Amino acid sequence: MKEILQKIPFFAQLSESDLEAVIAKVQLEYFGPEQVIFEEGDLGEKMFVIKRGTVQVIRNNVILAALKDGAFFGEMALVSDEPRNATVQAATEVEALTLAKNDFRRLLATNPNIASLVSYEVVKRANAIS
Ligand code: CMP
Repeated sequence: MKEILQKIPFFAQLSESDLEAVIAKVQLEYFGPEQVIFEEGDLGEKMFVIKRGTVQVIRNNVILAALKDGAFFGEMALVSDEPRNATVQAATEVEALTLAKNDFRRLLATNPNIASLVSYEVVKRANAIS
C-alpha cells in the first residue's frame, strides 16, 4: 500500500508518519465501467482518490468533468456537510483509494499541504456550480 500511495501526488507529499497513519485507514475499492459510485443528493461518508481509471461527474444529465488517475472526488460533501452535489460514475474500470469522512477531516487538520490542495479544488469546483 505504501508504494501505491507514494505514486499518487495527493498522498506523496505526506511525511512518513502521516503516510503510515493514512495507510492504516485507506481502503482500495474497485468499480466497473458505467457503475454509479454515488448519486447527487446522497449523504457523503468518504472521499476518493483515483489510482487508475476515469470517472465522470454528472449533474442534471450534463457531464461536468472527467477525472483521471491521481484526481480526487467526493471531498465537497465531507468539508461542507452538504449532500453530494453531483453523481459520479465510472467511465472505465476504476481503482480508487477511499478515506472515511473523519479520517479525511483529520488529514486536512494535520496536513496544511493537503488542506490547501483540497481547498483550491473545492473553490474551483464550487465556482463551476454558481
Ligand atoms: P461531492 O459533493 O462530495 O460529490 C460530488 C463530487 O463531484 C464533488 O464532491 C466533487 O468532488 C465533484 N465535483 C463537483 N463539481 C465538480 C466540477 N465542476 N469539476 C470536477 N469535479 C466536481
